[in-house]
Amino acid sequence: MHRLLILHGAIQGPNPTADEAETERVAHNLAGLLSGPDWSCEVAHADLDLEKLRIQLLKSPPDLVFNLVESLNGQDRLACAIPALLESLSLPYTGNPTTVIALADDKLALKRELRSLGLPTPPVSPIDPEATFIVKARFQHASLGLGPDARVTSWPAATQQIETQSRRYGTPFFAEAFIPGREFNLSLLETVGGHIRLLPPAEIAFRNWPEGRPQIVDYEAKWDPESPAAHGTVRVFPKGDGPDGAILQTLCELARSLFERLGLAGYARIDFRVDRQGQPWIIDLNPNPTLDPEAGFAQAARVAGIGYRDLIEGILDQAAKRGLGFSPPGRAYAGD
Ligand SMILES: Nc1ncnc2c1ncn2[C@@H]1O[C@H](COP(=O)(O)OP(=O)(O)OP(=O)(O)O)[C@@H](O)[C@H]1O
Ligand SMILES: [Mg+2]
Repeated sequence: MHRLLILHGAIQGPNPTADEAETERVAHNLAGLLSGPDWSCEVAHADLDLEKLRIQLLKSPPDLVFNLVESLNGQDRLACAIPALLESLSLPYTGNPTTVIALADDKLALKRELRSLGLPTPPVSPIDPEATFIVKARFQHASLGLGPDARVTSWPAATQQIETQSRRYGTPFFAEAFIPGREFNLSLLETVGGHIRLLPPAEIAFRNWPEGRPQIVDYEAKWDPESPAAHGTVRVFPKGDGPDGAILQTLCELARSLFERLGLAGYARIDFRVDRQGQPWIIDLNPNPTLDPEAGFAQAARVAGIGYRDLIEGILDQAAKRGLGFSPPGRAYAGD
């Protein structure tokens, strides 16, 4: 019997955000699912009292940590402190290494890295001041601050919106070119043998979307299931042998390339937009996507024929096998 510690970000105050509440729920569900002859499971929350957590881990070291921490004290960019702490204690954990989590939690740094690797990401500079932009948070995920006013139609309007939102949410926002067109989510899973498995690409289709509203999977679409935006966004799995075959193939190649070249591990979801000329753009990297059984990652696995229990056990087995031996970025190109 092995000891598994399932770690999630602590809930902040009496009114948790929807994503905090979701992560806590997933942590308890995983404990229920995995407890048995192989694993004895404990759920714990992490906050900024890292010393308390460090002492707890030293006193009673688990064999493996299931790292679900997406945020510490409401700050996504602090989440990388948890894998860093685990690495410093030589404790193996699931999912992505510290460096990847830190990079994905700074969207501007991620974009610089993608650009240096020749991977397509929407530009942030106002090449054309009359272009359309989206204004989004630099250090936060979960569509924080994204609503119909996130899309603006000039650079002066973008700078105004950056200022308004940064002040309103107390965290920096930035603007990048708005890519009109289709939206896809690519989920990837590393197997025990180190093979990267691409799960069937999902499209978030805008159906019966409110007339005139910018097509953005915004905060309402993600977190208010009764809202018009939630009803107007439908996850579908286009067939690889249908008319979308070529674009799906390109998205899969880009997703795999990103996974390998940035040194991702375990599992991840990469979000794309495809513009009207058919050019794909990487808009977001989620190195710790929610493992809620109804959410995109588990649903893509289900379409691939991987049941929820197998998915979760696969993630655990892969993490246990690799231990602390993460592959360095660019491994596919280094010939190993
Ligand atoms: N450059 C863009 N062009 C068009 N739409 C965009 C662009 N960037 C983001 N969006 C829209 O905003 C949504 C959220 O953006 P993004 O994925 O960057 O934020 P997030 O808060 O990290 O989301 P998640 O909850 O998936 O982590 C996207 O799903 C997409 O609909
Ligand atoms: Mg994200």
